[in-house]
Amino acid sequence: MYGDGEGRVQALNGIDLDIRRGQMTAIMGPSGSGKSTLMHVLAGLDGATSGSVLLDGTEITGLDDDARTLLRRREIGFVFQAFNLVPTLDVMGNILLPFELDGTKPTAERLTWIESLLTNLGLQSLRGRRPYELSGGQQQRVAIARALAMKPTLIFADEPTGALDSRTGREVLELLTQATREYQQSVILVTHDPVAASYADRVVFIADGRIAHDVPRSDAQTLSSLILSFEPKA
Ligand SMILES: Nc1ncnc2c1ncn2[C@@H]1O[C@H](COP(=O)(O)OP(=O)(O)OP(=O)(O)O)[C@@H](O)[C@H]1O
Ligand SMILES: [Mg+2]
Repeated sequence: MYGDGEGRVQALNGIDLDIRRGQMTAIMGPSGSGKSTLMHVLAGLDGATSGSVLLDGTEITGLDDDARTLLRRREIGFVFQAFNLVPTLDVMGNILLPFELDGTKPTAERLTWIESLLTNLGLQSLRGRRPYELSGGQQQRVAIARALAMKPTLIFADEPTGALDSRTGREVLELLTQATREYQQSVILVTHDPVAASYADRVVFIADGRIAHDVPRSDAQTLSSLILSFEPKA
């Protein structure tokens, strides 16, 4: 629930969603349907006026702020719709930020992983640049590298391919797929793009803050027709 009085917006309404480990779940739906809000609530970034969110049996909606912050830092990676990079840090500084915040040093094995992310995402030559010296798509790739760096249990990605050309977008989707297949991470992918959603094991459609459809892996064509079937007619 956003705001109060007449400006009150009920962004979500009666959503019951079980995200399985090692799966990629895509969330689709019209602009304003509540996708980003759902992601924020699931991640414990926003509270909910009612309902609860459980992660591996722990009710995160019941945790205090400190406990929620800690859990988020260690178990959850984010790629926000606005990339949320720290303007004063260079690419490497942004990617290592989760470790910095957690007060831990990446292990040698983890640094190798981060190097491979830089290579896969085409960021090697940009590692010393600051966000304002990067294009939108490059910033998006930094945000993706940062989310994957800690190998979190859960990755929330809000339109992670929105600013990317199709080849780079495919690489990002393959990295996210690898996260689920090889590392048993769970990915929640918010997207308007049926091709991106076709990489997911499951696609959930949100309309007016509710789940309108919940389908297993489908090809882009099928997902496209599903979207058209419930978009408001002009
Ligand atoms: N901070 C806020 N205060 C008031 N209303 C908000 C706030 N954030 C979002 N909303 C409203 O909540 C509803 C859901 O917004 P949300 O951002 O979750 O949509 P979305 O599905 O992510 O859309 P998009 O595809 O455009 O990103 C919208 O009606 C929006 O205007
Ligand atoms: Mg959104």
